[in-house]
Amino acid sequence: MKIITYPNPILRTTAESVTDFDGNLKKLVISMAEAMAAHQGIGLAANQVGAPGRVIIVEIHRQRVQARARRSGTDYSKLVDQKVPLTAFINPEIVHYSRKTVVATEGCLSLPGLEVDVERSLAVKVRARNLKGKKIMVAAKGLFARVLQHEVDHLNGVLIIDHGRPKKVKPDNEL
Ligand code: CO
Repeated sequence: MKIITYPNPILRTTAESVTDFDGNLKKLVISMAEAMAAHQGIGLAANQVGAPGRVIIVEIHRQRVQARARRSGTDYSKLVDQKVPLTAFINPEIVHYSRKTVVATEGCLSLPGLEVDVERSLAVKVRARNLKGKKIMVAAKGLFARVLQHEVDHLNGVLIIDHGRPKKVKPDNEL
């Protein structure tokens, strides 16, 4: 599954609510996870692979975060203690944003070779459904909260370049 890159207009579309929690949804999530892993990503939204539904996945572990840090020269050492197993959030809604915000450097698999300093809430609460359609509620902090905010932005057609001025970094294929 290929990851769509800017300026493809699909990245600017608003994703639609998922109503069918079936095998196709599970297949989509598996394909997304493979595409994300191939690029050492820690989050991915369905419209980044051309799928219309409100689906995001998150997977955070040390190796992925360090690969990204090496690429950009950013110090993510304070963040690499977080570990989030591969999780799908269907129809995610951020129901609470902490008043406290943090500025940190973000990349995006749809914007290879660019990074942007983005101010986001330190913590969020997200209501969503899992692959079986069961309601879930997650309280996230730090990098996990940042990834959730980044991916929900994608579902609303929002990209990191809308948050600030991009700086050039080495794209994946120059590692
Ligand atoms: Co992104």
